Amino acid sequence: MPAPVRKAVIPAAGLGTRFLPVTKAIPKEMLPIVDTPTIQLVVDEAARAGIRDVIVVNGRGKGAIEDHFDHAYELEHTLRSRGKTADADALAAITHLVRIISVRQLQPLGLGHAVLCAREAVGDEPFAVLLGDDLIIDRGRPGIGQLADVHAATGAGVIAIMEVAAGQEHLYGVVAGDWSDGRLRVREMVEKPKPGTAPSRWAIVGRYVLPPSIWPLLAATRPGHGGEIQLTDALRELAASPDGLYGVVIDGERHDAGDKLGYLRANLAYAIARAELREPVLAMMRDLLETSG
Ligand code: G1P
Repeated sequence: MPAPVRKAVIPAAGLGTRFLPVTKAIPKEMLPIVDTPTIQLVVDEAARAGIRDVIVVNGRGKGAIEDHFDHAYELEHTLRSRGKTADADALAAITHLVRIISVRQLQPLGLGHAVLCAREAVGDEPFAVLLGDDLIIDRGRPGIGQLADVHAATGAGVIAIMEVAAGQEHLYGVVAGDWSDGRLRVREMVEKPKPGTAPSRWAIVGRYVLPPSIWPLLAATRPGHGGEIQLTDALRELAASPDGLYGVVIDGERHDAGDKLGYLRANLAYAIARAELREPVLAMMRDLLETSG
């Protein structure tokens, strides 16, 4: 039986150029969805799936991420002295979600390289990778937990996939293979295929559970699409290895918070998923439509 997934890697070294100017001094991962940094939502997903150690791969200017998961003594103390116990408890809970381990990616050599930077911190056990641009509102079992379940049953690598509209394939890693038991045994994969060349419309979503056999494959991966070391290229080798690779459709609602429109949509979707905000936000949206139309 495969070992349980106890560790996760969150690559967070990107420059966030799609969100300038806000990302000039603020890490992209700290941009809020309503009132919660995107990275906290992703860490919370991992924590609810039983993951205890989260390795954040970061770079210069990302200190706010570590501070966010640290104990904020003065803030908590002030809140408690004002009788705001629930608010203070909520802040303290962020610190206890998981153990955060920071490692640095010294050069921006690509997603595969960012994950490889976490090799020593993860060691010889299966681990999860969660990309912060992809947010998942689940219906009970966290998205990454659903992948961990398939890993526990098969021992294989597992990636989340979704069917994208024709013409969108070039924005993703795209996979093809054979379906059985509701999962795709991956045979082919290509990172950001040129328009008209994708092997299917099944795109990779930023959630992965990987066996330790990925490490030597990643270490041997040469620069690919965009001159970067691509995780997808190492996964193609994993798919062809005895461990193998499955694609799974996560039960949940996926949001792409990595571009402006997707980010705004995610904010509205998370807001209307909250009981206290649902009605006022829907009323505000109707009002905005009427007055801007
Ligand atoms: C990354 C991966 C890609 C995947 C995507 C999902 O690309 O390289 O395979 O489909 O995340 O969000 P990025 O969007 O970081 O360019």
